[in-house]
Amino acid sequence: MGDAYKYAVVIGANKGIGFKTVKQLTNSGVTVVLTARDENRGTEATSLLNEQGFSNVVFHQLDVQDAQSIESLAKFVQTQYGRLDILVNNAGASGVVPDEDVLRAMNMNLVDWNVTEALLPLLQNSPSPRIVNVLSRRDISWHTGTMPVEEGAEGSVMLALLPDGGPTGCYFDRTVLTEF
Ligand SMILES: NC(=O)c1ccc[n+]([C@@H]2O[C@H](COP(=O)([O-])OP(=O)(O)OC[C@H]3O[C@@H](n4cnc5c(N)ncnc54)[C@H](OP(=O)(O)O)[C@@H]3O)[C@@H](O)[C@H]2O)c1
Repeated sequence: MGDAYKYAVVIGANKGIGFKTVKQLTNSGVTVVLTARDENRGTEATSLLNEQGFSNVVFHQLDVQDAQSIESLAKFVQTQYGRLDILVNNAGASGVVPDEDVLRAMNMNLVDWNVTEALLPLLQNSPSPRIVNVLSRRDISWHTGTMPVEEGAEGSVMLALLPDGGPTGCYFDRTVLTEF
């Protein structure tokens, strides 16, 4: 499946790595739902990309800590596209549950899991689904991350667009496969 026919959701995308991830994905022809918890910040970010010529970016509100918001996003994707090819769990949200061993082993926190669970049926409709979980900065540097956002986005985008048969369930440091 060519990237031009793929649909993606990027969480926490009104700024930072998420915003750059949307830009790089849409540059590859992917249709991207830019999500943000704040309606104004999200529509502003989307308008900025649309004005730059990226017409295949649309906005939908998503607060990963709000069940109704998650359900609304899932309904939107179902109605608009009927499937989801790429999910980038990027929101640096609080509410991490540190003793959720299984989720942590998968490099996920509980709020990310709620969104992923709601979108799983749509991912299962894709012939080539991808989930990219961006590691919480809290986990590695106590909110002092200094990675340039373009560089952070490159890792997410590379993983989102991996061809079929590529690595799965692995940990990457930016674009490099590494030990967790
Ligand atoms: N930058 C680094 O050096 C670095 C290094 C390693 C890992 N990371 C990870 O990469 C990801 C993005 O980092 P970043 O530097 O781009 O962070 P950032 O600039 O703080 O952006 C975080 C994004 O997440 C959104 N967000 C926060 N809570 C949310 C919620 N409840 N629901 C939906 N969205 C929510 C924020 O929205 P608001 O604007 O509304 O707050 C914002 O759009 C994070 O997971 C971070 O932990 C970053």
